Amino acid sequence: MPLSRDPSAADNPTAWHSTYFGPHYLALYATRLLKPMETGWEAEFVGTSLRLKVGALILDCPCGFGRHLRRLRRAGYRPIGVDLQVPYLRCAQQLTYEPPVASGVEPARSFVPVAAADMARLPFPPETFDALANLFTSFGYFPDDPGPGGDWPTNRGVLAEFARVLKRGGRLLIDVPNRDDLVEVIRRNPRTRMAGDDWEIREEWRYDTPTRRMDNKTHFRMQDDESDVGYNMLGAVWRRNTYASRKAKKRKNL
Ligand SMILES: C[S@@+](CC[C@H](N)C(=O)[O-])C[C@H]1O[C@@H](n2cnc3c(N)ncnc32)[C@H](O)[C@@H]1O
Repeated sequence: MPLSRDPSAADNPTAWHSTYFGPHYLALYATRLLKPMETGWEAEFVGTSLRLKVGALILDCPCGFGRHLRRLRRAGYRPIGVDLQVPYLRCAQQLTYEPPVASGVEPARSFVPVAAADMARLPFPPETFDALANLFTSFGYFPDDPGPGGDWPTNRGVLAEFARVLKRGGRLLIDVPNRDDLVEVIRRNPRTRMAGDDWEIREEWRYDTPTRRMDNKTHFRMQDDESDVGYNMLGAVWRRNTYASRKAKKRKNL
């Protein structure tokens, strides 16, 4: 399947942002691949690395099916989730629901609020959040240049959008694999396969040096249901470890 380069995923259901993150990704990652313990560590890392105070308003963007939202609320923060995929947000609502009486949470907080939106156009006023967490390889989905008409969203534009919704002095955490490490992994294993009793994921990667982008083709199978999808994203080098955090407002001129 050719990958659409136009990344305006909200307006274009054939863009890879929409097709890759479909029912197979959700089913396989939510039930087979992501480990609750690691989700717990990651949520804890958001609070400690950004030195957040209890009650901090955090945008989890994109939040996927809400696995960090639940943990962040349990830790005493006020998370809000954004994702492009409405079915994922429905799962997030189910996952984060706490019956007010049994759990002791205020009725207004029995659901963690979520919104369907493109991360390049966030539906929040400026200076809303104390922190923004972009977790699990969710950055670099856009091109670096704004296209022939000059109006496609870019990675730089996403950073500017993150900075816009953060309060002055707000904190930003971007969790991406280090490009150099990834390139080495791809060089050694350009094709991978993971499988269980009733599922399989076959992937093929290519790194394009001039554009610094990873091109991926994925075959998902869950029982008898299969799909061929893929993604194309920027390989970023931040610090030489998994996490990069920075004070967003210092970088207003991104
Ligand atoms: C790799 S998943 C990570 C989700 C979540 N942070 C987690 O750790 O489970 C990336 C998510 O980005 C969402 N997404 C993709 N493109 C998007 C866009 N342009 N705007 C908002 N969300 C997007 C997908 O629907 C998917 O849920």
